[in-house]
Amino acid sequence: MQNRSDATQSSRHTPLCRSLIDATLANQMSGATAQEKVAALFNYIERRGQSFYDEVVTQLEHALQCANQAQRHGSSPTQITSALLHDIGHLLLDEHNADADFLDEDMNHEEIGATYLAPFFPESVTTPIRLHVPAKRYLCTTDASYYDGLSDASKKSFRLQGGAMSDTEREAFEQIPYFQDALLLRRWDDLAKVKGLEMPRLDAYRDIVQACLIHIP
Ligand SMILES: [Fe+2]
Ligand SMILES: [Fe+2]
Repeated sequence: MQNRSDATQSSRHTPLCRSLIDATLANQMSGATAQEKVAALFNYIERRGQSFYDEVVTQLEHALQCANQAQRHGSSPTQITSALLHDIGHLLLDEHNADADFLDEDMNHEEIGATYLAPFFPESVTTPIRLHVPAKRYLCTTDASYYDGLSDASKKSFRLQGGAMSDTEREAFEQIPYFQDALLLRRWDDLAKVKGLEMPRLDAYRDIVQACLIHIP
């Protein structure tokens, strides 16, 4: 059983709105073979990942750069898979208002992505995804150089996300399995925003992701 604690929760309290979460991918993956699951997942990321993550890279480019960071650090298949899928919550959610502008509201994409993937991947994949937002609070609290390296926008969102962790929050965070993987993921996430970088394509991760799927006999 996953050891959840308040330290995984930021100060954001946006309720999950299930009607905004796209069920089509889960429907395709449920009951499918391992190969079919990965095919559905990659088709989905390829199609929905064309939207922009920020002003310089698309969601797909961000995912590929993050996975590449993990791979270059000699990471395990579960760490690489976490890196590749960490922002899938953004793809699953309709984060636009009626005028097609991004919502100001925070939709808890990390919780949504981790929960959505939980029937298909183990906690070694989903927990770092769930923790990659609070991991920023942890790193800002424990590493001044990490905080100093953030952009002004990221420093501002850090304050909105709850600011520095208390000692109690920090200690609770350190009790969560895979919290170290979440810290690594967060650092790769921060580096995965480079415009025009040539990257291995999604296909390069097919075997790695397939190997991480929960095996259902
Ligand atoms: Fe994210
Ligand atoms: Fe990200």
